[in-house]
Amino acid sequence: MPIRPTAAHVDIEALQHNLAVARALAGPGVAVLAAVKGDAYGHGAVRCARALEAADWFGVALVEEGAQLRDAGVQTPILCLGGVGRYGAEEVVRRGLVPVLYDEGDAERLDLAAQAAGVRLAVHLKVDTGMGRLGVPLSHFGRFLDRFARFGSLEVAGFMTHYATADAPPDSAGGAFTREQGRRYAEALATLRARGYGPRLCHTVNSGGLVQYKSLHYDMVRPGILLYGAAPCAGTPPLRPVLTVSTQVLVVRDLPARASVSYNRSFVTKRPSRVATLPVGYADGYPRCLGNVAEVLIGGRRCPVVGVVCMDLCMVDVTEVPQTVEAGDEAVLLGVQGDERVTVEEIAGWAKTIPYEILCGFSERVPRL
Ligand SMILES: Cc1ncc(COP(=O)(O)O)c(C=O)c1O
Repeated sequence: MPIRPTAAHVDIEALQHNLAVARALAGPGVAVLAAVKGDAYGHGAVRCARALEAADWFGVALVEEGAQLRDAGVQTPILCLGGVGRYGAEEVVRRGLVPVLYDEGDAERLDLAAQAAGVRLAVHLKVDTGMGRLGVPLSHFGRFLDRFARFGSLEVAGFMTHYATADAPPDSAGGAFTREQGRRYAEALATLRARGYGPRLCHTVNSGGLVQYKSLHYDMVRPGILLYGAAPCAGTPPLRPVLTVSTQVLVVRDLPARASVSYNRSFVTKRPSRVATLPVGYADGYPRCLGNVAEVLIGGRRCPVVGVVCMDLCMVDVTEVPQTVEAGDEAVLLGVQGDERVTVEEIAGWAKTIPYEILCGFSERVPRL
């Protein structure tokens, strides 16, 4: 039993509901890879992977993340989206993971590791069609395939790319770029097939592409953020939020007018005020910049965070809450209380970032329940 009341509650049924939404968007015959990288976007990878057993694949960024799922007994196919790097080849083979491949050095190491284990290793080739991050550049793709032919223990089981702007409206410049990336991918796929490769799983879309570009779904879709209840774009069917972050009021103090709160004195009371101190701060992943902009639910009311958020604590003005707020009262930083809801989109807006960063940011110090 944790001593501190600050916790992140993960609604497993909501997660499963959102997977069903993804499955319905994908339609029949299209596999669904659930992105559980980044500790399942901060929700706890092992628990979420178990809850998402209806997914056909899991997507992790790191070989270590794949190994963690295997250690927990997860047997679903796992794609290592970040590749294997210099030191991951043996572990990939040992754990039965499927690496994304975009680098000749990685191919060489994987081929050696597969040979040593006496197996043929399935890999998913990745082409960079405009993300400028990972993937064989389109301009080098033919040459890469010439050289790839010598790796006799590797099998091209999948072929993928990743879009930079799949969440942008289709009629925007971002939409035009997604279609251009899709065209480049089709061109690369034709090149691959002309060389005699027949990847069984072609896949290109994340959540935004899943919602907006049915023609780019191919054999598998790779939603992440949508599973965790944040809509990637307009037109997303209703999702259920998965994460609630709550705590309890630590102390409440009555401050006179003109009293300052927190470091740097960025907030000064304009009137006699009741201010609650909460045991949560930026070391828990509640960003410092939320001070003086965010709202927290206490007594079913939206209450402003006042002063900068500290490492372990933050302060909330509860003057407007009709009932007397006391130590031990529930405070909801993300989620529902009574008729009120604070969404991850709102918090991201206050923090001038995206929901992904807020969700991934809750630290290990916050237990996932
Ligand atoms: C290669 C790849 N596929 C799929 C995803 C899932 O993306 P999203 O969370 O936007 O659905 C990601 C996440 O960044 C990714 O890097």
